[in-house]
Amino acid sequence: MLRSAAIRDLPELLRLEELCFQEGRFRRGHLRWILRNPSAAAFVADTGHGLSGAIMLLFESRVCRIISVAVVPAARRQGLATNLMREAERVGLARGCAVLRLEVSTANLAAIELYRTLGYKSDGVLPRYYSWGEDAYAMSKAIAPSVLPPNREEPISIS
Ligand SMILES: CC(C)(COP(=O)(O)OP(=O)(O)OC[C@H]1O[C@@H](n2cnc3c(N)ncnc32)[C@H](O)[C@@H]1OP(=O)(O)O)[C@@H](O)C(=O)NCCC(=O)NCCS
Repeated sequence: MLRSAAIRDLPELLRLEELCFQEGRFRRGHLRWILRNPSAAAFVADTGHGLSGAIMLLFESRVCRIISVAVVPAARRQGLATNLMREAERVGLARGCAVLRLEVSTANLAAIELYRTLGYKSDGVLPRYYSWGEDAYAMSKAIAPSVLPPNREEPISIS
């Protein structure tokens, strides 16, 4: 049921954006960029009759950024976002990432609870992070050990 998204999914992904987000929706151009960019990836939950969820990722060196996760209202609280987030972890590890990062509105209690349940920790608040004025938590989860140089105890920065 989970598969890589393709350019043919654009109309369904736009429908998902409308169903799931009030603010800051990805527009067609953003989605097309994500679907075509080798530094990005998108995975969808496909019921066979439409998409019920999606997750979008950006790879920056050893960091995998989760830029969006969404599940249609009718399919919520059935573990779908959890499965999509686990897929992100699997793909991030396969691409050599050491950490998953994301930002979430401090008002989005459902998403915050989802991320906490999955072991994400808050790295602090980003005031007025969103264009509509809401603050965000920066959150992260380590998925692989940092690389240590020989005879040194400090981890290498992986910015
Ligand atoms: C946040 C969202 C992705 C969760 O999707 P989901 O498929 O319902 O999540 P899951 O079923 O995997 O939930 C896993 C856990 O997260 C927490 N959780 C999820 N939704 C919750 C809610 N509305 N209230 C409180 N906790 C919630 C719970 O701990 C839940 O476990 P439980 O159902 O056993 O109690 C979904 O509500 C959504 O699409 N929201 C709109 C888009 C959005 O805000 N995305 C995140 C920011 S990009």
